[in-house]
Amino acid sequence: MFMYEMPTRLYFGKNCIAQSGAALQQLGKKALLVTGRHSAKINGSQQALADTLDRLGISWIVFDEVENNPSIATVRKAAALGREQQVDFVIGIGGGSPMDAAKVIALLCTNEMDDAVLFTGPYSKPLPIVTVPTTSGTGSEVTKVGVLTNPHAGTKQSVNTPLIFPVLSFADPSFTMSVSETVTVDTAVDALSHAVEGYMSRKSTPVSDVWAEEALRFLGMHLTELRGELSYAVREDLMYGSTLAGIVIAQTGTTLVHGMGYQLTYYKGLAHGRANGLLLPRYMELMEASMPDKAEKVWEILGLSGWRDLASFIKDIMPDSVDLTASEIDSYVALTMPARAVQNTSYDITPEVVASLYRHLKTK
Ligand SMILES: [Fe+2]
Repeated sequence: MFMYEMPTRLYFGKNCIAQSGAALQQLGKKALLVTGRHSAKINGSQQALADTLDRLGISWIVFDEVENNPSIATVRKAAALGREQQVDFVIGIGGGSPMDAAKVIALLCTNEMDDAVLFTGPYSKPLPIVTVPTTSGTGSEVTKVGVLTNPHAGTKQSVNTPLIFPVLSFADPSFTMSVSETVTVDTAVDALSHAVEGYMSRKSTPVSDVWAEEALRFLGMHLTELRGELSYAVREDLMYGSTLAGIVIAQTGTTLVHGMGYQLTYYKGLAHGRANGLLLPRYMELMEASMPDKAEKVWEILGLSGWRDLASFIKDIMPDSVDLTASEIDSYVALTMPARAVQNTSYDITPEVVASLYRHLKTK
């Protein structure tokens, strides 16, 4: 048996907020907009929402202090503002960080929790959550996960509950037109790893596989043209592919690549998509052994011949190398092994397998 759950109502396309923003009216009279410091103001997304909210007579306030890989302190500060201002719903605008933060903020507006319970629950119903992605990568606009940095655990950790599925999402690819080349590459590779990992996950289902293959098609056709100026049509395909990949991981969770990548972000400062990209080829080497038919399908859709071909593609667009000491590898392995993402991986993941994948990073 399998279960398919996708409760987020998604509006996709240019000007979707202006066209369909009236759907926000059902959520209340006052909104908390959650963003990073700059990009929502530059790419037009905050203005598009402000215009629509004003037109609908919904009042709004902004919390624009979400940093990359948001901290518990930041979401607590925003939730305190939301409670004090008695907002009715929360809108996360941006890449994964503001959207993930918005989900946890909505949860903290209705739940009194200490830092330990924050990651485990139980939770009661959060304020309604709305997401507006402005990068094409995270998929957070349609998932039930909010990732935070947790200094108590010494890594990134997920708040994971169906309660934080966004109620509405407005995905307008025109907001991604101004995304830099580096972020375009990092986020596209993050989306690619969502589609691949979801496809390979122990929790993959016949329905999630359909979306995963479709996501791979839309992302795959543009992998060689992620640099330089991109047309709206390409930006639209990338956002469509990344949102589909988000629907996939909402069913399947992520796997070893994400589980290991969090350590590289937390301790080495690597961007999330970059960390995943560096780990993805050797992960696919494992998958070629454990799931050869699905691995073959991935290569067929992407037009690659195998994991080595993927490795040279990644080396070209992400020429990073990460030197880790033996003791760093030991501690990252210890942090990775208990992760839910490891259990989702279709391979017998031992500490030695994880250590070997980390060791391969420096040969890039
Ligand atoms: Fe990701």
